[in-house]
Amino acid sequence: MRAWRVHQLGNPSDVMSLDEVEQPTPADGQLLVRVRAAALNFPDVLMAQGVYQEKPPLPYTPGVELCGEVVGTGRRVIGSPSGGPGAFAEYALMDADNAWPVPDSLPDEKAAALYLTYQTGHVGLHRRAHLQPGEWLLVHAGAGGVGSAAIQLGKAAGARVIATAGGPRKVEVCRELGADHVVDYTAEDFVPVVKEVTGGRGADVVYDPVGGDVFDRSRRCIAFEGRLLVVGFTSGRIPEAPANHALVKNYSVVGLHWGLYRKMEPSLIATTHDALVALVEAGQVDPLVGAVRPLEEAPQALAQLADRSTVGKVVLLP
Ligand SMILES: NC(=O)c1ccc[n+]([C@@H]2O[C@H](COP(=O)([O-])OP(=O)(O)OC[C@H]3O[C@@H](n4cnc5c(N)ncnc54)[C@H](OP(=O)(O)O)[C@@H]3O)[C@@H](O)[C@H]2O)c1
Repeated sequence: MRAWRVHQLGNPSDVMSLDEVEQPTPADGQLLVRVRAAALNFPDVLMAQGVYQEKPPLPYTPGVELCGEVVGTGRRVIGSPSGGPGAFAEYALMDADNAWPVPDSLPDEKAAALYLTYQTGHVGLHRRAHLQPGEWLLVHAGAGGVGSAAIQLGKAAGARVIATAGGPRKVEVCRELGADHVVDYTAEDFVPVVKEVTGGRGADVVYDPVGGDVFDRSRRCIAFEGRLLVVGFTSGRIPEAPANHALVKNYSVVGLHWGLYRKMEPSLIATTHDALVALVEAGQVDPLVGAVRPLEEAPQALAQLADRSTVGKVVLLP
């Protein structure tokens, strides 16, 4: 079978090759799936560069999210490959207890996008930040994979959503996703906008996959008893929050590492999946797939994700 492999660390387009490899053999508790669609995630880029928390031994097949068809039964499931990456290939292994059914109505490319980013959004907003109906939710990089999911989930939870995004095209995408207010934060400071829109209160929950200056500025417009969710650092800088600032403003900095729940509390993944499927069936969640590309174009697609030129999720079809 064909599988992309990272042979040394570096930018994905420099270090990946499409290799002919043996089809994997499932061990006890594993399923062999034919990959129908694999979704890109920013960690695919960071992992190839060697700067992600997870560092698989080389060579490895990238890709952490897929929709696959179980060989032998034809059942369609979504999830991550067993033990880490491995989705950018024609076949992959999945753990049987971590392979989730999807409604027939959901096409492969949207199904592939319903797992990682939506699970992260749902667990982040509900379990970690306890988002309440009527609260103000500020979503950064709202047109991205994680951000677009958070806008939809925030609206579905009854929150009022302010989104930020880089450039007019992405601002429009956030509007179409249902954001109540959108700021092009590459052209305008979002802090006064958030203060004005919320009547001086600030954002009750901030969903921040960007970090760096965006995190620093978010502390300036967070509400009394606000929750600032630390989701990621696409800006490339891990920020710091002075403890005295959290004290005087009475807010919380809340870490979010969704993947850890797979180990610490697997039942949460199951209940979250059920909640997401119900939201899909109710029409409140509809994964935004910005581009569908053939498997062969994985390096180019990853380069676009890294240089900020994608919207929603990018999905590869083997
Ligand atoms: N905590 C968790 O459990 C968890 C789970 C999944 C993902 N994540 C994290 O969530 C983040 C987003 O992942 P994603 O796959 O959904 O990516 P994405 O948001 O689709 O793409 C990254 C976006 O970040 C923004 N950005 C701002 N500064 C950037 C820079 N210097 N370089 C590149 N992008 C920049 C860009 O949007 P604008 O142009 O609009 O600024 C870009 O489109 C990643 O940091 C990832 O590690 C965390």
